[in-house]
Amino acid sequence: MNTLVVDLGDRSYPIKIGRQLFTNPALLTEHIHGRQVMLVSNTTVAPLYLDAVAGMLAGFSLQSVILPDGEEYKTLDTLNTIFTALLENRFNRGCTLIALGGGVVGDITGFAAASYQRGVAFVQIPTTLLAQVDSSVGGKTGVNHPLGKNMIGAFHQPNCVLIDTNTLDTLDDRQLAAGLAEVIKYGLIKDSGFFTWLEQNMTALRTRDKQALAYAIERSCALKAAIVAADERESGQRALLNLGHTFGHAIETGTGYGNWLHGEAVAAGMLMAAELSARHGWLSTDAVRRTEKLLRQAGLPTSPPAEMTADRFMDLMAVDKKVVDGGLRLVLLKDIGHALVTSDFRQDLLAATLAGAT
Ligand SMILES: NC(=O)c1ccc[n+]([C@@H]2O[C@H](COP(=O)([O-])OP(=O)(O)OC[C@H]3O[C@@H](n4cnc5c(N)ncnc54)[C@H](O)[C@@H]3O)[C@@H](O)[C@H]2O)c1
Ligand SMILES: [Zn+2]
Repeated sequence: MNTLVVDLGDRSYPIKIGRQLFTNPALLTEHIHGRQVMLVSNTTVAPLYLDAVAGMLAGFSLQSVILPDGEEYKTLDTLNTIFTALLENRFNRGCTLIALGGGVVGDITGFAAASYQRGVAFVQIPTTLLAQVDSSVGGKTGVNHPLGKNMIGAFHQPNCVLIDTNTLDTLDDRQLAAGLAEVIKYGLIKDSGFFTWLEQNMTALRTRDKQALAYAIERSCALKAAIVAADERESGQRALLNLGHTFGHAIETGTGYGNWLHGEAVAAGMLMAAELSARHGWLSTDAVRRTEKLLRQAGLPTSPPAEMTADRFMDLMAVDKKVVDGGLRLVLLKDIGHALVTSDFRQDLLAATLAGAT
């Protein structure tokens, strides 16, 4: 097992990465506050892993709540079912919530922990590649609103992130590819050496080579941990993690939550960001070509669906959180491994990118 640390002073926490971690209860129990534990999972993940995780919690007063599965259930209504379970079981402020599942379960459970009795402890046990490399680390929690994705939420850091890479064995290929989009993102924004490693190892990753996956997860978590430690509340460089997300969120909202996977939408969005960067002359056409090739090799889409017209994009992007004082801010690329956040891009080139993408 390898342990990384998200360094946030007295709120620092470990990310433990390894295989068969569920056979070692102490890895989890040392991060549980109090005796009351609410295990939150969903209808797909619970039959696979709930018993194993519950088995680590002998001696605790354990309850569970099983949510319906899907991005379309990442809502205030679903969040309320967690509050109801907590209140029915008389959970107090000293309790701990555990999120067992992908990014949807992690984001909802984290928000429940952020807001139940003004904040209780929680632990992330991510079971998708996307959640293991991205959403479980960094403390962004929340739910969707019909008018915009992740529009209601809070920052609330977990006490621990426990990543058992064996859980990926049951994940289907499409979901694995969606996670690879966020992995590729780290190379694009921060680490050209990692990008090159990904170009050399994409086949190994897609065929689930354990060592390659472990390395990709560790490198991704290390990059995210460093960014979060430097800028927890996204006043600066954390915004780079949104590469492709302004376009991607528009695709997710525009096509109806759950039809395009988050990682798929981000993949198409990252290529749009690369193309817009190239239109400004900031990024070489060779770098755009390499990005497109790597996304394709990962099994990801490289353009949005035809229904996403330029007008539809503009409408949806206007509610994006990256809009500051009415001005849209985008993450663009200067090179592979070098991103910037800017509102200083040309509207005509944005329009051309939106029109040309479909
Ligand atoms: N908080 C953040 O910083 C952050 C970052 C990135 C993404 N996100 C959010 O994460 C969400 C996407 O997460 P996701 O891609 O994990 O989607 P998800 O949670 O919907 O999981 C994908 C699917 O895989 C299933 N699943 C989970 N683990 C499994 C396993 N081990 N075996 C078999 N099936 C399994 C799930 O039940 C679901 O059907 C989005 O809502 C996105 O906004 C949040
Ligand atoms: Zn993302």
